[in-house]
Amino acid sequence: MSEKTKYRILFVCLGNICRSPLAEGIMQTYLEREGLNNTIKVDSAGILSYHQGELPDSRMRAHAAKRGYNLVSRSRPVRSDDFDNFDLILGMDDRNIDDLKDLAPSIEAMQKIGRITDFCQRIPADYVPDPYFGGASGFEKVLDILEDACEGLLEYLKNMPEE
Ligand code: 4NP
Repeated sequence: MSEKTKYRILFVCLGNICRSPLAEGIMQTYLEREGLNNTIKVDSAGILSYHQGELPDSRMRAHAAKRGYNLVSRSRPVRSDDFDNFDLILGMDDRNIDDLKDLAPSIEAMQKIGRITDFCQRIPADYVPDPYFGGASGFEKVLDILEDACEGLLEYLKNMPEE
């Protein structure tokens, strides 16, 4: 990563093929639009390693493409060094957050874990529902929630005091 990088965010879901790669793709688009993509870096990972190496789910990619997001990341599981390498680790639902807490190697690491929907400003969501076993409307809902959350996250980052 560039020396200029000041803040790193990891998005986490269960399989790292639907929700978290979408969060990464939306946030990367927003950061590029704002000229912040060199100072803030984003990545995504899954609790499971089952889909390791795969591109995001084809349904997720198709729904994302309709809104202009090109999802190109490859699935990988969360690693223990992610807790050193990232400043903020955002889960999509209770299960992700519980699993991340189990993986966190220290109290300091635990304090980096958050819930992405806490950044929503318009949609009153407590979690991002897993779309994997559902239909098209589930993927659209994930897009709606994550666009809202990423807009809120961008505002949070822009208002963060400089070190
Ligand atoms: P994601 O969705 O956590 O949003 O990537 C899922 C993808 C795959 C599985 C579950 C959820 N799976 O059981 O394989």
